[in-house]
Amino acid sequence: MKRSGNIKTGPERISYKINNGEKLHSKFSRTLVTAALPYANGPIHLGHLAGAYLPADIYVRYLRLKGEDVIFICGSDEHGVPITITADKEGVTPQQIVDRYHSMNKDSFTQFGMSFDNYSRTTLPIHHQTGQEFFLEFYRQKLLVEKSEKQLYCEKDRMFLADRYVEGTCPVCGNTEARGDQCEKCGTWLEQTQLIDPKCKICGTTPVVRETKHWYFPLGKFQKQLEEYVDSKKWKENVRSYVDSWLKQGLEDRAVTRDLHWGIPVPLQGYENKVLYVWFEAVLGYISSTKELSQKKGDPNFWKKYWQNDETRYIAFIGKDNIVFHTLIFPAMLMAWNEGGKSRYVLPDAVPANEFLNFEGKKFSKSRSWGIDLKDFIEVFPADALRYALALNLPESRDSDFYWKDFQARVNNELADTLGNFVNRTLQFIQRYYDGKIPERGKLSELDKWAAGEMKEAPDKVGKLFEAFKFRDGVVEAMSLARAANKYFNDSEPWKSRNDNPVQCATTLNICAQLARSLAILLSPVIPFAAEEIWKMLALDGLASTAAWNSAAEMSVEAGKQIGHVKILFTKIEDTTIEEQINKTTNTIGPEVKAAVPSTAPIKAQITIDDFRKVDLRVARILNCEKVPKSEKLLRIEVRIGEEKRQIIAGISKHYKPEDLVGKNVIVVANLASAKLMGLESNGMLLAASTEDGKLSILTTASDIDSGSIVR
Ligand code: 2FM
Ligand code: ZN
Repeated sequence: MKRSGNIKTGPERISYKINNGEKLHSKFSRTLVTAALPYANGPIHLGHLAGAYLPADIYVRYLRLKGEDVIFICGSDEHGVPITITADKEGVTPQQIVDRYHSMNKDSFTQFGMSFDNYSRTTLPIHHQTGQEFFLEFYRQKLLVEKSEKQLYCEKDRMFLADRYVEGTCPVCGNTEARGDQCEKCGTWLEQTQLIDPKCKICGTTPVVRETKHWYFPLGKFQKQLEEYVDSKKWKENVRSYVDSWLKQGLEDRAVTRDLHWGIPVPLQGYENKVLYVWFEAVLGYISSTKELSQKKGDPNFWKKYWQNDETRYIAFIGKDNIVFHTLIFPAMLMAWNEGGKSRYVLPDAVPANEFLNFEGKKFSKSRSWGIDLKDFIEVFPADALRYALALNLPESRDSDFYWKDFQARVNNELADTLGNFVNRTLQFIQRYYDGKIPERGKLSELDKWAAGEMKEAPDKVGKLFEAFKFRDGVVEAMSLARAANKYFNDSEPWKSRNDNPVQCATTLNICAQLARSLAILLSPVIPFAAEEIWKMLALDGLASTAAWNSAAEMSVEAGKQIGHVKILFTKIEDTTIEEQINKTTNTIGPEVKAAVPSTAPIKAQITIDDFRKVDLRVARILNCEKVPKSEKLLRIEVRIGEEKRQIIAGISKHYKPEDLVGKNVIVVANLASAKLMGLESNGMLLAASTEDGKLSILTTASDIDSGSIVR
């Protein structure tokens, strides 16, 4: 099924041919389109594509075909606590994490035809400068408010602990694994200082309460201005209801700095160990990515034409979890940088946020192996198959679901049997009976006129829906032209008229070729790779993606023109292929078998044999073992290593009963610096294998190996 997608439609297409079309909005001369910057903390999956990127890409491709001046901006969001947590877990640096996922996600976007003009990164100096510039502008305006607050500080790690770095007992339900901001068991939102017996998640020690200072952006001050702004725009219903509920609650000051080492440093003295809050700077990533595009173009002021010009219409595509940031906080930040009482920057004219896409009836979940990443999808199916199936299933007004069976049906019945079949039967007929040359049209019959009429109306119908961000309906409308085309071919019966009425037959095939061209244009925003293949088979000049949208209404394929090599546009997906995917992606193989599936965590950076020899691994005999009171996870284990007795605290209580461990030979890291866990000293560490879905097995040896034996 894999088809090579060698057409250049991916990130960082620096230039694009512009057609002469009518402007969509007389008030605006150009359009700036952004799509939410995905976190470089994991691979992109289907849900991400359906949430923001696919609709944005369809929209941009459509605008380009209409001849609009448009740029499409995106990039990786590379700061924030979750990235540092992933890095800690893997024992690598945050930079290594973002390098890995930036390039992985950028590649996936390219493979799926996301036609960004620039795909940047928030770790680049240009972004750091932009973030600091905004912060300092607000600071100089005396807009920012400094507040002191109490926060947990780990004296061992010498840092204030972000909420996700603290764990403790929930004061409401007693759950011992409550996070610094929320207890996931009872749902209570917490201040980290409310946690009973809090622990630093990095080292396990008890943090202390310390005062810390942070800068706040006074969102409340912008309430009225934001209300006016919100009222002046047309919003999708789902977006408006979120915005209204926020406005109704009343907007409050938002902290824009954090105690963290990973991020954009706060450019003020006394704030050396703090960074800008990731959400404060991530939204500015759209601006810095456009600045980067300017640099690449060698035109330093290029970005201003889009960001600081009243003639720009700015559309921000996002998923629903980002609504408040793009409809209220980011606009307030843009309003705050004003000149002569007027914002220096353009505000979003529309924020067409989608709801969520679920996978086979449930939320995507990496830890539960539920879902599929783009990089795995492309190994099996062509990008257009997914683009098409998702486009018809976009969660535009409510959550929607991806089901493998639906996907298969869409590809087989619609892409292969309707579109592919029409294009192939038309071109094969021309190949076979007209030596591959487009036949001449004669006088049009009623049926011919009907087909030509359908074609004439289609660009307008589809275009209006795309302009209203109704991508699902737009694609349905475009596909209805493919259905009409098939019906036209059938009803015209060229296999008969070829003998009975050759002029009619030639006319039919000529019109079919026109319809194929028209379909290539109308569907090119959705299935750009297949559209180019149709274009190539018709041997037309240029590309489907640079044709003029409105020309899809016209009969412009010239008679006598030799067509290109005809090949199958879409192959049908076999049931067995789909079953295989269902098994792979919906956690149906069962936990026992799953434990045998190797962990997908990437292998860490190489070390030398000398590095390895620094770790003193020994066989230890477990003498005694008991649960640590008040802890769900910890066991206190007494071991003997040769002649020496020691205490080790290990977080394996969920997997082993104390009595089952006594007498076992285990492997320990004997020269690990001691640490305190829940006030108990731990000297060494037990080795265990664990899987992503939470299985764990300690490493043991046969009982006739003496304790203290070296493991190498
Ligand atoms: O939800 C996310 O994936 C965020 N990284 C989106 C950020 S959008 C913008 F602020 F950059
Ligand atoms: Zn700590």
